[in-house]
Amino acid sequence: MTTQVRSVQPDVAAGASAVEAAIKATALTKIYGPRGGSESRHRGWRRAKDSGADTKPKAAADDVTFSVAPGEFFMIMGLSGSGKSTVLRMLNRLIEPSSGELLIDGRNVATMPDGELRELRNRKINMVFQHFALFPHRTVRENASYALHVRNESAAKRDERADWALQTVGLGDWGDSLPGELSGGMRQRVGLARALASEADILLMDEPFSALDPLIRRDMQDLLMELQRDLNRTVVFVTHDLNEAMRMGDRIMIMRDGKVVQLGTAQEILNSPADDYVTEFISDVDRSRVLTAGTIMQEPLVTATERDDPQDVLRRLSNVEGVGAYVLDDEGHIAGITRADLLAAGVGRQRATVGQLVTNEFKTVGADAPLSDICTLVGRNSVPLAVTDTDGRLVGVVPRATLLNALATPHPRKDDGNA
Ligand SMILES: Nc1ncnc2c1ncn2[C@@H]1O[C@H](COP(=O)(O)OP(=O)(O)OP(=O)(O)O)[C@@H](O)[C@H]1O
Ligand SMILES: [Mg+2]
Repeated sequence: MTTQVRSVQPDVAAGASAVEAAIKATALTKIYGPRGGSESRHRGWRRAKDSGADTKPKAAADDVTFSVAPGEFFMIMGLSGSGKSTVLRMLNRLIEPSSGELLIDGRNVATMPDGELRELRNRKINMVFQHFALFPHRTVRENASYALHVRNESAAKRDERADWALQTVGLGDWGDSLPGELSGGMRQRVGLARALASEADILLMDEPFSALDPLIRRDMQDLLMELQRDLNRTVVFVTHDLNEAMRMGDRIMIMRDGKVVQLGTAQEILNSPADDYVTEFISDVDRSRVLTAGTIMQEPLVTATERDDPQDVLRRLSNVEGVGAYVLDDEGHIAGITRADLLAAGVGRQRATVGQLVTNEFKTVGADAPLSDICTLVGRNSVPLAVTDTDGRLVGVVPRATLLNALATPHPRKDDGNA
């Protein structure tokens, strides 16, 4: 298993860096009905805050603020009716916001001239829906290249892009078939291929896998995550499944009644759920599959080099009540582990170094190993399990207590007995 280094910049997501966010939504609000009718966009949308304070109709999206960094996999999650699709569709103005501000690549979408808006929808952003509307009488290749067709690209370019995209999603041999010849899962792949072929930087996905069988769904999640690593698009993905959100997302925005109740990484949400609504969701999460070695690892308390004096390492170990330590070479690779009993035996010997007192009885895992895979390894080791990078250097350790803590639910539901 290898460590994936993602190019997400958290500062950007937090809106604090000079690098531009791909998407920056501020106080986006959508109110349906007569009083919430959209305004002329050339005047811009109202600021949410100065709308009249009298009896307000319920907002489908209420004061929603978030930023998405370039290359980030951003999830929107919540129960049915919480406003997920409304927020997603405001991002390409399929739904016109009632108020708020939206910047895509730093440009204000509300005041964008028509030509630029068309360009945004046709090239910059692509939307993938739960039920892909494939054209039944067009071939899979034609369906995959639909966005390029809309843009009047040449047939040669359309076919080239479509074939590449179909190949990428594992449908390389199906270009000449008709959608009716494909299974449901394969049809979803065509939808994905269509989004990829469009060359859009930003993919908006509204529950694209929720109609699929669990196993196929898992395959599609894996495929999309793999594609994301290679292609590094910005993805905003709507789901009502927190397991899916945590498995795939860099960060997750949890919505309820049109409002954002929490925004954070899987780890942050699991460790400190914002309220009972979130707590309810995370009680269904399989923490052992969502959390990884990299998310819970700690600095090793003691490490040694091969040249160290056994007495010295023994003293450092006893200070932390440790029984063993990793012995590292000059580049940080693990040369072995040493243990208190080995060190003690070497103390009397002349010119003994720690390098002569090591064993190979240890196991390592990559930072992206799920906790479900490391439970048995942690149980067996006499030193905390080592987490290594792709070059085999020690980057952290997982002590047994840390693992058990991470797997336990930190906030058991309060039974506050209000009558
Ligand atoms: N065209 C519309 N007119 C009036 N109300 C609407 C309209 N579309 C959505 N709503 C309301 O806005 C709220 C948010 O709906 P939205 O579709 O964004 O929720 P959602 O989180 O995507 O739900 P689901 O998981 O069922 O897709 C709901 O209360 C819904 O009834
Ligand atoms: Mg929806």
